[in-house]
Amino acid sequence: MKKITVLAGDGIGPEIMASAIAVLQATASNYEQNFQFNNQLFGGAGIEASGRALPEATLQACYDADAILLGAIGGAIGSPWEKAKQTPEQGLLALRKALNLFANIRPICVPDALLPLSPVKEAIVKGTDFIVVRELTSGIYFGEPRQLQETKAYDTCRYTETEIARIAHKAFQLAQTRRKKVTSVDKANVLATSKLWRKVVTDVAKDYPDCTLEHQLVDSCAMRIVQQPTDFDVIVTENLFGDILSDEASVLPGTLGVLPSASHSENGVSLYEPIHGSAPDIAGKNCANPASMILSAALMLRQSFQEEKMAQSIEDAVFAVMNEGVVTPDLGGNAKTDEFTAAVIKKMQS
Ligand code: NAI
Ligand code: MG
Repeated sequence: MKKITVLAGDGIGPEIMASAIAVLQATASNYEQNFQFNNQLFGGAGIEASGRALPEATLQACYDADAILLGAIGGAIGSPWEKAKQTPEQGLLALRKALNLFANIRPICVPDALLPLSPVKEAIVKGTDFIVVRELTSGIYFGEPRQLQETKAYDTCRYTETEIARIAHKAFQLAQTRRKKVTSVDKANVLATSKLWRKVVTDVAKDYPDCTLEHQLVDSCAMRIVQQPTDFDVIVTENLFGDILSDEASVLPGTLGVLPSASHSENGVSLYEPIHGSAPDIAGKNCANPASMILSAALMLRQSFQEEKMAQSIEDAVFAVMNEGVVTPDLGGNAKTDEFTAAVIKKMQS
């Protein structure tokens, strides 16, 4: 029995979470697996219920879980949640910090099934298969002091050697299981934190003589991601750069709606979530692409439960269904969220 704490969250979160859970439930018995889902309030839903985006009971349920599935949090611009004591985004940062989820793994793949749907030329995008390893619990999202005043504001970007070294080790260890190439992305021509980043990553690389390391500045990396995405194997970068570059990379498969992620600590529970947000513009319309959430659940099966076959069968079904033309509007189709989900389940059972 695996205990999964479920944080459906806001906007399209509950819609795509329902899809992922339906897929997990439909396959569990085929693999003699048993899941216990523990739904908890988080984000705007937490604020509505208790004034806090991360209620104490939710955090406790996360500590107690074998794995966590998160949909997405946040409201539209101008949402009353922005005035809460703890906003949805602050709740998410607090959760990542509390669970020490410093390593955010974001696979960016364009399987052949997605080639006809990608807005990028096939010659450029075919064979794209890289992973963004984003540092998740430090940098400018967490640095103090920070202040918003009437006519000026500031944030602080801060990194320690230890924080950089542990994420660099994660990246090299991942690269060793793949094509053994690490691209470290920084802005070392300008930022002090990036100068330290480059030095520490270079030192860590000495422990992995079988891997190659290249350094690239974030601005030119942004260009290379859409021009030569097949150059990359593992990209390791700090919190803000990783957030932006991985959203940019969603142009390669054609939508944010197919990109999952996994967040790990040193030894504790891991969390699995799409890289996108709560998409308030399409919430409640049964038209969100649930693939990002279903594929996040597959990552959970593989990385937390060592259920490789089950994970693979879900991934295969998702792309087979897309290949047959059952796609949601973000990819130019007209399948509804629940129709796409039903097609995936049917595919797995056939
Ligand atoms: P977003 O990622 O929610 O949406 C960006 C665009 O992608 C929108 O046009 C949306 O419709 C589309 N999109 C995203 N996921 C999709 C899916 N599964 N299927 C089809 N289309 C999809 O980013 P946005 O609009 O900037 O932020 C909305 C809210 O989400 C904000 O409150 C923000 O703070 C929050 N947010 C939460 C995150 C999380 O929960 N981890 C991450 C990023 C943003
Ligand atoms: Mg983001």
